Amino acid sequence: MDMELIPAPVSVGDQGRCGFLMDRATTITGQDGTESTERWLRSTLGAAFGLSLPPGADGKDNTILLRIDPALEPEGYRLSTGTGQSVVITGGSPAGVFWGAQTLRQLLGPEAFRRAPVSDGAPARVPFADIEDRPRFSWRGMMLDVSRHFLPKDDVLRYLDLLAAHKLNVFHFHLTDDQGWRVEIKRYPKLTEVGSWRSRTKHGHRASELWDETPYGGHYTQDDIREIVAYAAERHIRVVPEIDIPGHSQAAISAYPELGNTDVIDTTTLSVWDTWGVSPNVLAPTDNTLRFFEGVFEELLDLFPAANSPFIHIGGDECLKDQWKESPTAQARIRELGLADEDELQSWFIRHFDRWLTARGRRLIGWDEILEGGLPDGAAVSSWRGYAGGIAAAEAGHDVVMCPEQQVYLDHRQDGGPDEPMPIGYVRTLEDVFRFDPVPPGLTEEAAGHILGTQANVWTEVMQNRSRVDYQVFPRLVAFAEVAWSALPAPADRDFADFERRMTAHYARLDALGVEYRPPGGPLPWQRRPGVLGRPIEGAPPNV
Ligand code: ACM
Repeated sequence: MDMELIPAPVSVGDQGRCGFLMDRATTITGQDGTESTERWLRSTLGAAFGLSLPPGADGKDNTILLRIDPALEPEGYRLSTGTGQSVVITGGSPAGVFWGAQTLRQLLGPEAFRRAPVSDGAPARVPFADIEDRPRFSWRGMMLDVSRHFLPKDDVLRYLDLLAAHKLNVFHFHLTDDQGWRVEIKRYPKLTEVGSWRSRTKHGHRASELWDETPYGGHYTQDDIREIVAYAAERHIRVVPEIDIPGHSQAAISAYPELGNTDVIDTTTLSVWDTWGVSPNVLAPTDNTLRFFEGVFEELLDLFPAANSPFIHIGGDECLKDQWKESPTAQARIRELGLADEDELQSWFIRHFDRWLTARGRRLIGWDEILEGGLPDGAAVSSWRGYAGGIAAAEAGHDVVMCPEQQVYLDHRQDGGPDEPMPIGYVRTLEDVFRFDPVPPGLTEEAAGHILGTQANVWTEVMQNRSRVDYQVFPRLVAFAEVAWSALPAPADRDFADFERRMTAHYARLDALGVEYRPPGGPLPWQRRPGVLGRPIEGAPPNV
């Protein structure tokens, strides 16, 4: 029997024997350390099938037995059915048990993805299974930009569930940018009072002449963030919060004009940016700016505890240097520090926060521009402008997350046809994403060992709400999950036809989850955006 699992497990074993029926008498027997999975199974499968799934006792039949065997890889698991009318999920760690539970949900069919039963009283059937599995990469992520368009807290929690359903374990939370500051910082209330909303918004990409004149905004309170972090941790997802500095900072400058280059422009006239691109308004490289952002990061470290957020992302991308070139203050700083140029000034800025974070037990990660002007030891890189930055960083001994825009920027259009809504940049189909290999050929084994993994990035300039995000993200995130998780077969031997066949079953799961994916035949009429300009230029970077 074909289990149509996605991402594909390492092996599925002999098939054909009897399986397991989950019914009113079924219990969950969780050994120490498996509590998060026990709770998740009860709330998710219990709701889907109308079962209470009470705690069971070791050695009893008709139970879902959860246990940990440290001999397995930490995120690996074994799932077997059939003996004593039970299912046994053994994980190498609590996370491995949780990924095994995700597989169990897929084995139960699409109804397992609903929030209440749809077929009255019918037992849920698990086919005979003997599955061995483990991930290829330890960093399997998605970045969500909640600055350009804000996803309310409930939508973020839903995305965490969608990541978990695909065995993705890193949520990179892009919380600040020119177009909006989205996290409450108690000591700087204007960051959200002023910086979290704009009076109007460009509709479509930068060249579009359309505007949405509705005021637009939103932010997460500190308790919202704590809830999101706890929800992620319960699902074995690490959160990587990003505060983007020293570029992409216009929202912060509009709230606190002294953060900008006041000797170049009158920063009191700036407002939260209402269009897209790379803003020239960047942070001034002053002691005041450093102290201000230390204050931001102090609150951030409290909100994102080290156990779940060992990495803190400081952005570092696309910092235009024009204002620093013109600014007497910035030039004086370059001279005083004995720096060669503005690139080294950016590097000085990043190094400061690298030291600051390292002293507090965290690791800095930034976009690959942080390589320019020298990268501090221990810092990690998100390689977005292709593979090159990641290769250079890995060869220099830095850890790397591969997320090249040419491959895994899900804001890019997924078909070359005229019906794609607000089409951006490269055409990257489901198959293109399926064929992506995060490890470029020719890397030495040592450098390849520095590729922590990969993430897909979701920039939301032209995604105004959850439906638009769903459309861009799905189904491609499913192919991405297979890239990030499936340890076998080797990338060159992967079979797209087999993946497409499994996708047929997976679309039914996505339907049950209410995901508004792009159908294989193209956008439905209401998913199109006729007349709204995108930037469908092959080879064009997304942001300019
Ligand atoms: C980026 O796309 N600017 C990281």
